[in-house]
Amino acid sequence: MNNWVIETKGLSKLYRGRYAVSNLNLKIKKGDIYGFLGPNGAGKTTTIRMLLGLIKPSKGSVHIFGQPLEKERLSILRKVGSLVEYPSYYGHLSAIDNLEAIRRIIDAPSAKIDEVLNIVGLSKDARRPVKGFSLGMKQRLGIASALLGNPELLILDEPTNGLDPSGIQEIRELIKQMPKQHGITVLLSSHLLSEIELTAGTVGIIRHGELVFQDTIERLHRQAHEQGTLSLVVSEPEQAVAVLQEQGLGVSLMNNVILLKHIPDAAIAQAVKRLVERNHAVYRIEEKRQSLEQLFLQIVGEGGRP
Ligand SMILES: Nc1ncnc2c1ncn2[C@@H]1O[C@H](COP(=O)(O)OP(=O)(O)OP(=O)(O)O)[C@@H](O)[C@H]1O
Ligand SMILES: [Mg+2]
Repeated sequence: MNNWVIETKGLSKLYRGRYAVSNLNLKIKKGDIYGFLGPNGAGKTTTIRMLLGLIKPSKGSVHIFGQPLEKERLSILRKVGSLVEYPSYYGHLSAIDNLEAIRRIIDAPSAKIDEVLNIVGLSKDARRPVKGFSLGMKQRLGIASALLGNPELLILDEPTNGLDPSGIQEIRELIKQMPKQHGITVLLSSHLLSEIELTAGTVGIIRHGELVFQDTIERLHRQAHEQGTLSLVVSEPEQAVAVLQEQGLGVSLMNNVILLKHIPDAAIAQAVKRLVERNHAVYRIEEKRQSLEQLFLQIVGEGGRP
């Protein structure tokens, strides 16, 4: 047994001779918030549908809670709450009545309705017809429905799609409390890094159906940091470039500013020492970090399909 809540091996889906999802090895830790990121058409929804047993993989396997999805589908899905694309409701019914309809199907205790309405912050509006709800309120009601069955795992496909910044913020706060306060592991997809950056512990990035990055958000930060540059302002830039090149450093000069690729701290100290020994005045050293968003765009390839 291992502690992955979700583990896929070689998960693939072929549509009309093309892989919409190809050879995915997802690993989602218990108690984590896993941000599943990718541009439009990357294969997020297709993957999530396979995780929920809504469509059959062309190849590969899915284990959830350590059990094979193919064999244990019903017992697994009883412990999974999900929201895929736009949830559907009876618009003329209230939030409570909509939840009651679902509660009966899944046979959850009545007390659960108040509890989930409270978690998603809809208690006050619970008796209003849902057709008058804002998009953000509808999404929160969708999450409330997903929570009714007391899930151990919550799978949310682009829950912030179409919401305004305050709606996004509300959903983000709601998701953040899931592992800590309710012991629920969360998989959430998005096409915007900024939407999951503050929420997720682990990030999986999918591009053209392939997983191109899977690690902690800290690791992604570090990668962005390492792809940044240093700029040096010195008294005699051209001679200083020669000094740095003697040390084997990759440097370039732009508008009298020396640009250096990211190097370890010790190498920076050494370079500055050499410059000072040769009587160069070092006026300024600046680190230009690559933003996480820039790195993400670079990973997924800005222009989409080449
Ligand atoms: N039922 C289907 N039949 C044929 N092709 C499909 C089907 N569903 C998805 N695809 C294709 O699979 C690819 C991945 O689609 P998918 O919906 O999984 O992407 P996504 O990452 O969820 O995108 P979005 O951000 O737009 O929701 C796309 O090229 C899409 O056209
Ligand atoms: Mg999708």
